[in-house]
Parts: sequence; structure tokens; C-alpha cells
Amino acid sequence: MSRKPVVTLDGPAGSGKSTTAKAVADALGFLHLDSGALYRALTFALLEADIPAERWPTLTADDFRELDVRAVQKDGTLLVEVAGRPVTHELRTAEVTEHVSRLAGLPEARRSLIGLQRSVGADGGLVTDGRDMGTVVFPDAEVKVFLVADLEERARRRLAEAGDSSPYRHDLREQVASIRERDRQDTERAHSPLREAKGAHRIDTTELDFDEQVREVVDLVRRLTPP
Ligand code: CDP
Repeated sequence: MSRKPVVTLDGPAGSGKSTTAKAVADALGFLHLDSGALYRALTFALLEADIPAERWPTLTADDFRELDVRAVQKDGTLLVEVAGRPVTHELRTAEVTEHVSRLAGLPEARRSLIGLQRSVGADGGLVTDGRDMGTVVFPDAEVKVFLVADLEERARRRLAEAGDSSPYRHDLREQVASIRERDRQDTERAHSPLREAKGAHRIDTTELDFDEQVREVVDLVRRLTPP
């Protein structure tokens, strides 16, 4: 039997990667790995351990590994755990979001997570999303997608996710500034910056609703990887 494919979805903050990747994985019967959640978990663990951000650049890959971030498979789903404890909402606090791109720019932090990410995709049958999944982590992935959307639309979606369906102008402005700053750090960093992978299929989701964007990716996978 041929190996099931690996599908990568990369793109800037708030482009809908994680929710789309999860729905695509469900439609195809594949696992879903949200690599951003691993970077967030490492950030959360550092903040919990009260290690000041100024010290993070001095930590080794082994120091980061000791924080014990894992992706554990349960009932066909990958759950992120820190020191044996499942973490979900803890990963999306304003404090973690504010610090995560700084952490993600550190080569030793990235090195500590790469083996974990690759082992999850070793047998194929994976949909994974992040910034460098198609360029660095899975350069041989069968299907690569680069998701983009207008900055303001991405900020609006983020506020809607947080339960604010008619965001005030100042909230929107703040969200735009926060996303723009994270995109800047993710694009300008020296190690594994956010880039469109060679051969990636670019999908602009600004005018698409959620079901349409999921369908586009699922159709693409079916077209490119015959059963
Ligand atoms: O969901 P959102 O797009 O806001 O971000 P995320 O996917 O949860 O990722 C959080 C942060 O982790 C990003 O802003 C990047 O700094 C970092 N990240 C990364 O460097 N490489 C990845 N493969 C995934 C995330």
C-alpha cells in the first residue's frame, strides 16, 4: 500500500491555517498537527517556570527539551502536553501570543521541536500547519499550501474568534498592529522564516468562507495525490 501524503499549510498569523488544517484532516481521515501550538506550549512552559525572556536566548535545545512539550495521540487526535499535562486555552493567552514569536526566532528552541514534528509525520497521513512546515520541517511533503488573506480581514477573524462579532475600531486597530508585528518577526528572522515553499499552492482566503477554503484544500489534495 502506498504511503498516505503529508499536507502542509503555511501562512501569516490569522490566515485560518489551524482551523482549516483540522477540518481538512478530518475530511481526509488524517492526523492534524498544529505546530504553532508547540511553539506556544514552549512559551507557556517558560513563562510558567518564571524564566525571564532575556535568558531565553542563552538556553540550549536540551534545556528546551526538559520543559517536556509533547504531541500525544489520543483517539485519532494529537493533544499538546506540557510536563504530562494537556494544554489548550493556556496557549492562546495574550501573554503567550505576545512572547511566542520571540521564542520562535531562537534556533535552539526550533531545534528542540523539529524531531517531534517529523516523527508525527513519519508514516504520512498528516495535515500540518505553521510557518516553516513546507520549507524546513517537511520539504518533501506531497502537497504544500500557502494561505494568505488581507491583514484587516485576518484581524477581524481573530476578534470574531474571541467572541467579538462587531469589533470597535480601536480593538481592530490593536489587533492589526499585533498581527503585523508578529508577521514582521516571523518573516524577518534568520532561522526558518515564514516563506512560501517552492511548489506551494497559494490560496487567498480573503473572499472565501470557511467551508469554501476547506473544500479548495481537500480538492487540491485529492487532485494531486491519487488514492
Ligand atoms: O494561530 P496564529 O497564526 O496566530 O499563530 P500560531 O500558528 O499559533 O503560531 C504562533 C507563533 O509560533 C507564530 O507567530 C510563529 O512565531 C511561531 N511558529 C513558528 O515559528 N513556526 C511554526 N511552524 C509555527 C508557529
